[in-house]
Formats: sequence, structure tokens, C-alpha cells
Amino acid sequence: MTAMHAKAYASGLAENVLEELWFGDDDPLRDVRTASESMAAATAKATGLKPFPAVAQHVLGLLSDPKVDIAALNDSLEKDPVLASQLLRLANSALFRPAVPYASLEAAIVRLGTQTVQELVASVAMMSLFEEATSPAEKIRDHGAAVAAIGRILAQSIRYRGIGTVFLAGLMHDVGKLMIHQVGEFDYDALGAELDEPDRTHLVERETLGYDHAVLGGHVLDAWHLPPALCRAVAWSHQPGRALNEGTEDDAMVVSLVRMANHIEYQLRKNREPDVEFLEHLAVSSDNAIPDFSADVLEALWPKITESVDELLSVLVS
Ligand SMILES: [Fe+2]
Repeated sequence: MTAMHAKAYASGLAENVLEELWFGDDDPLRDVRTASESMAAATAKATGLKPFPAVAQHVLGLLSDPKVDIAALNDSLEKDPVLASQLLRLANSALFRPAVPYASLEAAIVRLGTQTVQELVASVAMMSLFEEATSPAEKIRDHGAAVAAIGRILAQSIRYRGIGTVFLAGLMHDVGKLMIHQVGEFDYDALGAELDEPDRTHLVERETLGYDHAVLGGHVLDAWHLPPALCRAVAWSHQPGRALNEGTEDDAMVVSLVRMANHIEYQLRKNREPDVEFLEHLAVSSDNAIPDFSADVLEALWPKITESVDELLSVLVS
């Protein structure tokens, strides 16, 4: 039992539940033990049902070291020929438009850089979890990809150094919804319009299940051995106050940027054009307290945002 598990156990949580990823003290739950036990069971079921591709898991681990060895990376990727060929296809797609197509994956890795490779590996691996995409899985998949693309634009525009984490957290922030749907615990289709509003679904889940998709998602990513900062960003995506008070500066920034990207993605579904009222509202929202975008800057980024969402979706979902 790790120190973190021991602490979780002592606090009345189920044994496999990580206290750091569970709800903070400001989320009083009447029966923490039962709720955390059912979430631990859902995590076990979900990770058993759809394992994250092993090679992708290994490669993302390698890529979390900034001094990663390109040859070792290439060797690992070649152990999964499907992943390797999908990566090469993406590297040669409209996303990057190389002047001369890359003939080998190694050439693409050298040229694109490790951060982009990390994004691509995570994207391909995530898409493989949605193979039989039907409603609502398809909606969850497209939403994650779009939030990743928007988060990257926002992070780039403020020259934030953790762009990769923002992209991955955006991509994976709602993976818990897919898990809850796949283990059949909750009927998202029955929610109807509620699924189309940000910051609503998790409240209904907490009421019905005792936990929510963000906290479950964080645990599933931890079970897949993905970086702890990514697990925290996902688990805390509906607890921004906690990211601010208990997390590192990077945790607070990543959660803020993912939440900003999330609001923008919901808005894009309603209106592809920049809406001044929406942008002004977003600029003064608490989610913007740390990145501090002005409405004007957000408006100026809008064309880049819509273009980037379209590009990523067209290459990932085809
Ligand atoms: Fe969410």
C-alpha cells in the first residue's frame, strides 16, 4: 500500500481511492465510504473493459522526460504497428502539411518535436477507446478533441510552458463520462439538453452515483500510469477552487485553461462566430482569473480556435 493509499484508507475512503483525486473537503458527501467504493469498482470495471494501449502508455511515460531519447521512442512506437502507421498518417495530414511527406516515423518525430508527438500519441490512443462511437460516446470524443485543440491555442497565446499537459488534459477531461457510459452506470442520453451545458452533468452524477466523471477519470488515468499532474488536472476539472488552493501553480493554470477551453467549445456549438457578450462574460469569469485573457484577445484568437478545432477533428475522426 503506498503512502497515498494509506492516507486515503485512514480517511474512510475505499482502499483503492486516491485522496488527492477524490473530492476536497468542500464537497460534503453523506456516505463517503459507499460512494468511494462504488467509484473504485467502476474504475476497476472501466480499466478492465478498455485498457489504454500499452505502447502508448509506455511512450507517454518516456515523453514526460524532456530529455527523451528519440531512437528509444521510435523503437517503442514500432512495437505497435497500428499506432505507428496512424501517427505517420497524422504527421503527414493537413494538421502539419509537410512540404515533402515524411517517409519514416523517426523523421517525423525529429521534425515535429517531442511535444507534438506526445499530443499525437495521446490522441490516437484516446480515439482507439471510442472505436464503436455511438451517441453519447461520439459527442464525448469530439468534445474532448475540440477542448484539446482550443486549450492548445489558449496556452500558446500566453506562452505557457505546459502546453502538452493542457492539450492532454483537454483531450481526456471527460474520459470518465465515456467510462461511466460504457459500464452502464448512467444514461447520458436521458439527460438531453443538460449534456449541452458546461458544469451541469457532474452535479447530476454526484447525486445519482456519489461520484462524478472527473474524479473517476482521474483515477482511470492513474490506473493507466499517466503522469500525476494530468490525473490531477482531470480529477479537478470541476473543482477549480481546489486546484487553486491545494495544487501547484501549474495545476491551477492547466485547470483554468481547460475550463476556459471547455466554455468556448460549448459556445462554438451554439455559434461559430465570436459573440461579444459571451466573450465579455468569459473574460470576467473566475476561470479566467489566472490566465487573464481580455475579451479582445479572445476575439482575436477566435478564427485560429475554430480552424484548429476543425483541423484536429477532421484528421482524428475520419
Ligand atoms: Fe467534465
